[in-house]
Amino acid sequence: MDFTKEMETLRRLTEDRLQQFFPGGGLEEAMRYSLLAGGKRVRPVLTMKFCEAAGGTPEEALDFGCAVEMLHTYSLIHDDLPCMDDDDLRRGKPTCHIKFGECTATLAGDALQAAAFQTVLSAEGAWRHGGQMYKALAAEILAEAAGFQGMCGGQYWDTLGDGQPRTEEELTAINDKKTGALLRAACMMGVAASMGRRAVDKSCMDAAREYAANLGLAFQIRDDMLDVTGDAGEFGKPIGSDASNGKTTYVTLLGLEACGARVLDYTEKAKAALRRGSWAGSTAFLEALADSMAVRNF
Ligand code: IPE
Ligand code: IPE
Ligand code: MG
Ligand code: MG
Ligand code: MG
Repeated sequence: MDFTKEMETLRRLTEDRLQQFFPGGGLEEAMRYSLLAGGKRVRPVLTMKFCEAAGGTPEEALDFGCAVEMLHTYSLIHDDLPCMDDDDLRRGKPTCHIKFGECTATLAGDALQAAAFQTVLSAEGAWRHGGQMYKALAAEILAEAAGFQGMCGGQYWDTLGDGQPRTEEELTAINDKKTGALLRAACMMGVAASMGRRAVDKSCMDAAREYAANLGLAFQIRDDMLDVTGDAGEFGKPIGSDASNGKTTYVTLLGLEACGARVLDYTEKAKAALRRGSWAGSTAFLEALADSMAVRNF
């Protein structure tokens, strides 16, 4: 398996599909601006590769993956607003509200969230008898990950000025919601996409959830590290945003060295969880993806 080549192929597939949404002007232009601004596309790649590991093809899960990326992009647009992290650079470009104003950016986020659910429920592909049920399952997984039990709930605690976490346990609980939840949804929706067409062993959904939970924690710690040590040109976001907002992060709680160790530890736990599933296909790519995210610079 050539990890880099496979990653590039899946990214291209995602970009080509995402370009087909929101072709118009006005609000659609702002949605398209943020959605197509770049980004690693980790979530759709996870959705597709989990579908494949569960016996399907990447293409079967492409629209589910695009839906997760729309929801993720909405979360980034709102995260950058002045009322939240107040950042002016995202994916190497001016943030949505800098380019289009706060009103339009807020609405672009709102509309991307609605479009995400529309995309799940109208996903293309030859869904066999019963497939509709798995679209509903995927929508349910995404709703739980996006809402108060997931991303929004985590963002609420993250942005409370006087509610900053004091312990590693508290911070981990916030990160599990604000970042882990959507990564979990991406992986589980990939398994759901495969379930729409074939029998999938029960262990796969649990393994996907557990892999993603650990990947999510490693992912946010690495993000917090890059907010201190990164290069804005490569990271595509401002450096020092967390410090200027007075955020408690893994770096402020533990220091950079311990952060590095935590990232490796959670990455190993993610890979171990993956091995507990009875997969129909290979999971080598998913292990390599976890390893590559642990050392990412963007
Ligand atoms: C950024 O997510 C927000 C976090 C959860 C840390 P990504 O690092 O996946 O951002 P993009 O999609 O590549 O821009
Ligand atoms: C936010 O975490 C994660 C989201 C739910 C958007 P950060 O605030 O650290 O994300 P970045 O660094 O701005 O991408
Ligand atoms: Mg934030
Ligand atoms: Mg932010
Ligand atoms: Mg950050």
